[in-house]
Amino acid sequence: MTQKMPGRRAREILVRNDRGGYTVPNGRVYPFQWNWDSAFVSLGFAAFDLERAWRELLTLFDGQWEDGFLPHIIFWKDDAGYFPGPAVWGTGRTPQTSGITQPPVAASAVRDLWERGDRTVFREQLEELFPKLLAWHKWFARVRDPLGNGLALIVHPWESGRDNSPEWDAASSRIDTSRVGSYERRDTSHIDQSMRPTKLDYDRYVALVQYGRSLGWDHERIGRGSPFRVVDIGTTMILLRANRDLLALAEALGRDEEAAELRHNIARAEAGVAWLWNDRVGAYCSRDIISGESTSMVTGASFLSFYAGLRNEARDRRLLAHLERIASRTKYLLPSLDPAHPAFDSIRYWRGPVWAVINYLVGRGLLEAGHKLWGEKVRSDTHALIQQAGMYEYFCPLTGKGVGGDDFSWTAAIWLHWCADHELSRGA
Ligand code: GLC
Repeated sequence: MTQKMPGRRAREILVRNDRGGYTVPNGRVYPFQWNWDSAFVSLGFAAFDLERAWRELLTLFDGQWEDGFLPHIIFWKDDAGYFPGPAVWGTGRTPQTSGITQPPVAASAVRDLWERGDRTVFREQLEELFPKLLAWHKWFARVRDPLGNGLALIVHPWESGRDNSPEWDAASSRIDTSRVGSYERRDTSHIDQSMRPTKLDYDRYVALVQYGRSLGWDHERIGRGSPFRVVDIGTTMILLRANRDLLALAEALGRDEEAAELRHNIARAEAGVAWLWNDRVGAYCSRDIISGESTSMVTGASFLSFYAGLRNEARDRRLLAHLERIASRTKYLLPSLDPAHPAFDSIRYWRGPVWAVINYLVGRGLLEAGHKLWGEKVRSDTHALIQQAGMYEYFCPLTGKGVGGDDFSWTAAIWLHWCADHELSRGA
C-alpha cells in the first residue's frame, strides 16, 4: 500500500519518538538513545527544525566518557522493555550507558548541519561539539587501531551497528557461552523471531557484555584480550569519512594543529585500508585480527569505500560489477548481504534485508564519486521502499515488504534528508 504524504508522516514519527532532547529509534523495541541512530535522526530534524537537530547531538555527547569514548546506548530513563538494560552493562556511569561504541557518523552529521544553517547562529553548538568529536576520534586512534594503520577494531558485533551480519559468524564461534546463565530477551516479544538474531547470537552478545564488565570496561584491556576482535569494514570506512568531515570543521574553526593531526590520520587510513581489500573476492571485507582471515563476504558495507572518499579505478570497477550482479538478483538495492551467499536470509536483520541508513551512505558515496546511475538507483529504491511499505526498520530486498519494527526514527530521517527532494523531482 502506498503511503500518503510520507514527509508529514516522517516528521510525525520524529516528533513522537522525541523524548525531550533525544530521540528513541522506536518506542517499543529500542526505548533509549542510540549513538549512530541519533546522528541520522539529527539529519532528519534538520529538514524542519535545525535547532532541534543540533540538540540531538549535544544530548548524545552528554553521555561521553572522560577519555573520549562515546557509548552506543545512553539509558536516560530505565525501561523494562529492553534487554540488556543498564544493570546488565554495569558501567557505573551517570547518565547510565552501555560499554561499547558504534560507527562514528556524528562528525559527518555535524558538518551537514553546520553547512546548511546560518553559520553565525550555530557557531556556539559547533564550538561545543568539535572538541568532543575530536576526543572520540582520538579514542578510536588510541584504543581501536591495533595495527596502527588507521583501521577500526570492534570488540562486539553490536559495535558495527550491523549486529548479526554473517561477517561475524566465524569470529563469534570463539566466544565461550557456557557461563552466560539465563536471561530473558525482550526483542522477540515485540517482533517475530524469524526477523531477529538467533538464541546462539544472543548468548554470544551477552557473553561479551559479561566479559567487558569483568574487566571494568577498561577498553585498552578489552581491545587486547577480547575473544572477538575484528577490523570492521563499515566502521573503518565511516571513520575515514568522519575524519575528513571533522577536518573540514577544524579548518572552518581555524584549528590548525588539530587539522594537521586529522590529515595525518586520514593519510594513514587511506594507505592502511588496502589490508581489507580482498582481491580474490574483488571487494572490501572485514577481517578477523585473531586469525588474520578476511570474511570474504560482500556486504552492504563493502560499498562504503565511495562514501569514505577512496578512489581506485580497478577496485571500483570490481565493486560496481558486484553491484550490478546483486541488482540483477534483487528487486531493491542494497541487500545487507550478497544474495548469492549461502547465509543470505531476506528478512533476518543484517543477513539480507535493506537498511535505509546504509543505502543513504552508500548512495551518497556513489553519487559523490560520479557513479550517477548507481547512486540514483540506490536512492530511488530507498524512496520506493519507504513510500510503498512505510518507515520500517528494514525491508525485504526481494519483495519490498517492511520488516522489523515500524515507525522507525532513522528511516523517517533518511526520508526527510535524502528522499523527499527526490519525491519532488519526480513530481510524486
Ligand atoms: C539495532 C541495529 C543497530 C541500531 C539499533 C537501534 O541494534 O542493529 O544498528 O543502532 O538497533 O536502532
